[in-house]
Amino acid sequence: MYIVLMGLPARGKSTLALRLRDAFQKIGVSARIFNNGNLRRIYRPLDDTANSEFYSPENKAAVALREGFARMNMERARAYLRNSGRIAILDATNAQRTRRAMIERHLDDHPLIFIECVNDDEDILNLSIQEKVNLPEFAHLKDRAVKEFLQRIDYYKMIYTPLKLERNYIRIDSLQNMIIKEKHSDVIPFYERLRDYLVTDEVKNLFLIRHTQTQFNVASRIGGNSPLTKKGRTQARALGEFFKKRKISYIFTSEKTRTMDTARAICEMQDNCRIISLKEFNEIRAGICERMTYEDIEEKMPQVFKKRGADKYHYVYPDGESYEIMKPRITQGIKKAFFLNRRANNIMIVGHQAVNRMILSHFLYRRADDVPYIYVPQDRFYHIVSTQDKKLFELKRYD
Ligand code: F6P
Repeated sequence: MYIVLMGLPARGKSTLALRLRDAFQKIGVSARIFNNGNLRRIYRPLDDTANSEFYSPENKAAVALREGFARMNMERARAYLRNSGRIAILDATNAQRTRRAMIERHLDDHPLIFIECVNDDEDILNLSIQEKVNLPEFAHLKDRAVKEFLQRIDYYKMIYTPLKLERNYIRIDSLQNMIIKEKHSDVIPFYERLRDYLVTDEVKNLFLIRHTQTQFNVASRIGGNSPLTKKGRTQARALGEFFKKRKISYIFTSEKTRTMDTARAICEMQDNCRIISLKEFNEIRAGICERMTYEDIEEKMPQVFKKRGADKYHYVYPDGESYEIMKPRITQGIKKAFFLNRRANNIMIVGHQAVNRMILSHFLYRRADDVPYIYVPQDRFYHIVSTQDKKLFELKRYD
């Protein structure tokens, strides 16, 4: 069958193409990706096609070129299915209804389904574009790269029509891995599997680390934004040593100094590593209790202490949060981290005590009442694997 991707640039199409290809290959079904951008990069000089004007609907010569690459890939996909191939994945923007009608007409020898990737989260778009413009393709554009890429998106928006009239399709929120709409008029092979792949969060290796010791930890104070202690810095360096042999491309942290400093020590020992701070991973907000010790709270605000102790998961600190309130933002942080990490084998998050408890419970079911008591030490980390055929949770030492 043909799987034809569509969606604006930076919506996660190519990552999805790789995920689908790998998933099908794993069950012995041969699958190959036909990416229009790759043909463009091979056959055209980069300084032409990174420029936004190459994507203007008014640029007739470029429209014809892009159409040519689309046809070339359709031919290749047809030939692949005629020979040994079983699934041809066509990866391109395919924004215009006329282009898709042409694809449906031309690729009529096997079942065909479109998958539209939708995602309008501003933060994610900005972060994804930052990543894109770091590619060699954009190097010569320097400061203009982001502007050019945004203009490219705007040009595609001018001709974009969502899937509707096509015979078979799935519209998916590519950040949430959630199906928005689906339609199938024909029998589509592997449909259940395909659907399952689309909505499953696959984690090859997640290293979940709590920031190392801080001055507030020593003083038993909660919240705040305190720096690492000498011991904390030594622990962070030990983490760096430990992970030296693993390739870590991205480390996701909160916006607090303690997680960023821990991550920096790990990043420094990697060849090519970036730290991305997400507000979603900030520690639980303790409101009026921020910067206090638990003893202070017990003494000065006995009601707060008692009520939290009685129902820690649901208790909302005055002007702050509960575990329950944190849950959606932590889930959003996990989705963002996974989206940005793409298909990398390793993903690392440096978080906080309450944050890491919520992240763990996202992968490992825990009764709500038990979540606020999950053990999250500072001298160990969790290694999590969660794929369709493997689940692993391991608490490991790093020193
Ligand atoms: O003590 C460190 C800390 O990260 C605090 O900033 C935070 O309030 C607390 O842990 C969360 O743990 P608990 O829910 O057990 O109070």
